[in-house]
Amino acid sequence: MRVLYGRYYAARDAAVAAHVPDGASVLELCCGPARLYERELRGRIGSYVALEASERFVARLRRRGVDARRADVATAELPVADVVVMQASLYQFLPAADAMVRRMRAAARASVIIAEPVRNLASSPLGFVARLGARAAATAEGAQAQRFDADSLGALLRGGFGDAITFQAPVPGGREHLYVLRGAAAPA
Ligand SMILES: C[S@@+](CC[C@H](N)C(=O)[O-])C[C@H]1O[C@@H](n2cnc3c(N)ncnc32)[C@H](O)[C@@H]1O
Repeated sequence: MRVLYGRYYAARDAAVAAHVPDGASVLELCCGPARLYERELRGRIGSYVALEASERFVARLRRRGVDARRADVATAELPVADVVVMQASLYQFLPAADAMVRRMRAAARASVIIAEPVRNLASSPLGFVARLGARAAATAEGAQAQRFDADSLGALLRGGFGDAITFQAPVPGGREHLYVLRGAAAPA
């Protein structure tokens, strides 16, 4: 992941954080190391819960005082929050990514923020770059052939949730696209 995204992490975290209001409750799915929280949100939001499949990430975050919980977000009951975030992870729920987005909206009182890679080294037209990217992705996350490009992500989100989209833009650098959707959970 570090090789794949390098300096884009900081730009992505800042772009996502700009859509999280001060004092909001935040649920992050597939948080990994929870950089967004550690670098941008800690201290200015109301609460933060992170759901993550990896015991290693969860244990490390809990040692740092983060409310991280081990869960398979494809099936877990999602706690309701003002803002539900997923970064660089929606592809893992293909071919049922639309169901994942519906469940995220159902858990979000105000908004759902999705930042998703749309250009991957694994899809590079340069053969050796593609092989490097595919190997890195396989090592980090298990073999995962299906990824989004800008068109397929747009087709999923604009096609299925067009009325709910309040913001969409590439993250500076263009590796990921950021979408903000209205939440569908009842207000507190
Ligand atoms: C590519 S990483 C992204 C991590 C983080 N969101 C980021 O952008 O740095 C994908 C993360 O999703 C987690 N993950 C994969 N499938 C999951 C599932 N079904 N439920 C919860 N977490 C999952 C992995 O353990 C990994 O930490």
